[in-house]
Amino acid sequence: MKKQKRIAILTGGGDCPGINGVIRGVAKKAIIEYGMEVMGIEDGYDGIVNNRYRKLEYNDVSGILTLGGTILGTSKTANPYRYAIKQGNRLRFKDMSETAIRNIKNLDLACLVCIGGDGTLGIAHKLFKNGIPIIGVPKTIDNDLIGTDITFGFDSAVWIATEGIDRIHTTAESLHRIMMIEVMGHKVGWIALYSGVAGGGDIILIPEIPYDVNLIAEKVIERNKKGKRFSIVVVAEGAKPKGGDIVIQRIVKESSDPIRLGGISFVLGRQIEKMTGLETRIVVMGHLQRGGSPTPFDRILATQLGTKVVEMIEEKAFGNMVGIRKNSLIKVPLKEVAKGYKKVPLNHPLIKAARSVGTCFGD
Ligand code: F6P
Repeated sequence: MKKQKRIAILTGGGDCPGINGVIRGVAKKAIIEYGMEVMGIEDGYDGIVNNRYRKLEYNDVSGILTLGGTILGTSKTANPYRYAIKQGNRLRFKDMSETAIRNIKNLDLACLVCIGGDGTLGIAHKLFKNGIPIIGVPKTIDNDLIGTDITFGFDSAVWIATEGIDRIHTTAESLHRIMMIEVMGHKVGWIALYSGVAGGGDIILIPEIPYDVNLIAEKVIERNKKGKRFSIVVVAEGAKPKGGDIVIQRIVKESSDPIRLGGISFVLGRQIEKMTGLETRIVVMGHLQRGGSPTPFDRILATQLGTKVVEMIEEKAFGNMVGIRKNSLIKVPLKEVAKGYKKVPLNHPLIKAARSVGTCFGD
């Protein structure tokens, strides 16, 4: 009798809408079409290091497509190669990769499916080099992964941010105020650019285009003179002034990417209010952008990516991430993905279109 193949799924890094859709896509296809046994690793790489996993039956992955978050739990800090151990106030790091690799080998997996962003997939690449059969799936609201046109979670975050901008618009207009809306995106401006354009932001500030605060103030005053007595400023959390620096909200020492951004809108809001004399209010969208049910686009993308992974397992296409380019599903070596992150190119057509309708980028 042919041995039943066993695979495992892990979700690492920040959660985002669509993860459960990918888990469902992988597990259902694996069970229905190939009779595979599917395990779910709990809390990302923490579950690998500490041997925490459970079997996923068909019923566990049925009815989860519309559910936000991840049914498996996740961790933004667990890294087998630099595992944080807290002893009182002391924090030390230990290489637990041998334990992790042993635990995975004991599971006798045909493949470990790692759903995550750059951090998770960087670790996945290391594990692959250490002999583990791995396939990655691109997850992040930030849309900053190399090798894929889009990551799942991004569309949902843009949708939520746009909804926020729309709501801010009406109150800004009624009270003749400047409203600043700060959106996530980490070091890149994808969410700010897309939601800013979708929400008709008058000023959009992204990390890729450092701003000059004088030009922002000028734009607001010019709008006022034209009878537009309000302005909407959409600012990416990673935006920075020309020659200046990002605003750091906190440092999470146990994380491999310890910097948490946030707060730029408060700094900039105060400056602009002072320079223009116009009342300014701040809204930080924050984690709302990562929560709730995925958009139809993300549900579809999650299903496509998840089911494609199973085909890749059958082809033994390990060491790759499934990606999407020009509407086609592709395989991208994890080596490529681990090289860095994808910024908004300065010649992006959406920047051009936004400038054509009078949007200011602070440059
Ligand atoms: O990478 C996803 C993301 O939501 C970023 O946009 C944001 O900078 C960061 O995670 C927030 O991290 P945390 O959930 O640790 O506050």
